[in-house]
Amino acid sequence: MSNADAPLGLIAELTHRCPLQCPYCSNPLELARSAAELPTEEWLRVFEEAAALGVLQLHLTGGEPTARRDIVALVRRASELRLYTNLITSGVLIDQAMLDALAGAGLEHIQLSFQDLDPANADRIGGYAGGHAKKLELAERVTRAGLALTANFVVHRQNLGRVPEMIRLAEALGAGRVEIAHVQYYGWGLVNRPALLPTRAQLDEATAAVDAARESFKGRLAIDYVVPDYYATRPKACMGGWGRRMLNIAPTGKVMPCHAAEILPGFTFPSVREASLSDIWYHSDAFTRFRGTDWMPEPCQSCDRREIDWGGCRCQAFALTGDASRTDPACALAPDHQVMLEAVRESEAAPADLVYRRIGAGTGLAKPPGSGAASQSAMPQEADGVGP
Ligand code: SF4
Ligand code: FES
Repeated sequence: MSNADAPLGLIAELTHRCPLQCPYCSNPLELARSAAELPTEEWLRVFEEAAALGVLQLHLTGGEPTARRDIVALVRRASELRLYTNLITSGVLIDQAMLDALAGAGLEHIQLSFQDLDPANADRIGGYAGGHAKKLELAERVTRAGLALTANFVVHRQNLGRVPEMIRLAEALGAGRVEIAHVQYYGWGLVNRPALLPTRAQLDEATAAVDAARESFKGRLAIDYVVPDYYATRPKACMGGWGRRMLNIAPTGKVMPCHAAEILPGFTFPSVREASLSDIWYHSDAFTRFRGTDWMPEPCQSCDRREIDWGGCRCQAFALTGDASRTDPACALAPDHQVMLEAVRESEAAPADLVYRRIGAGTGLAKPPGSGAASQSAMPQEADGVGP
């Protein structure tokens, strides 16, 4: 199928290097090393192709995107191309000089991630001592520099009780938007599901807190809330539907409809080194196979929500059923919905230890949760590859 609209956004994973080691990182278990990353000139060409293709928003992410020495040059070119440029960052590598350079290069928005409100727990979860304090400092400098700020709190059973304070902190820091985002259980998140999936009681309390805050902060702070699929009865439209709105480019140049698609067997994801973005978007098997509704099995095929949620998430369907073309088990109508209910039941047990994200640590971890994957509970050492 090639009658797609132009993509809205490009997610550029510039690198997998990161000083933090969050156990729910959206990067794949097998992280790319710096030698395999696209060089500056290739990213610049990709941004040009993206703008020509009709992309409006560019999300620079990683790993930690500011671990790349060329980050300012990349932002400058994106800005010249009139791409709305958002930097998704842990913030710990951005000093005043880099912030000034990024603002001068035309950066429009910073999405700053927080691991918790409590500094000790935040640093434990991120695996980076002193990280929380650096983030607080950066947030103030970002708003002073006149850049738009979104504070992103990733929540799970080990920090979920502090949602009201997280929202208050976001406002105090001058953020225009706060995102309370439950962990999504793919890749590292799925490995750590026994440590992170909240109980129903925890989730209900957090949801009530968000509802109350939406009332009291109305007109002052936008509050986004991403709930975990495990407690849903219908899935989310992952990425706005496969190959419908977003392109994701891995550090090596592989182009995918989402960040997690590398796990799907039977796909060859094309590289920007070999094909144009336009060709990949409109004609590659990788983008067309699950685009639209023709590929859908029942019950999706005859469901009136099929053009609302687009059958949910292909990566979640594969991770939980072994078949990417099945209905997302998050849907209560899915034949495999039971696997979600079982995980929810298991969440009532004591949480497991965290497995931290580290280059090289993913080898052998692609096992289902609870199957005895290696784990570690102590604060790990700083990750490799902080510098570019
Ligand atoms: Fe969505 Fe398919 Fe469930 Fe209908 S049956 S709600 S289209 S996942
Ligand atoms: Fe790949 Fe949802 S994360 S389709």
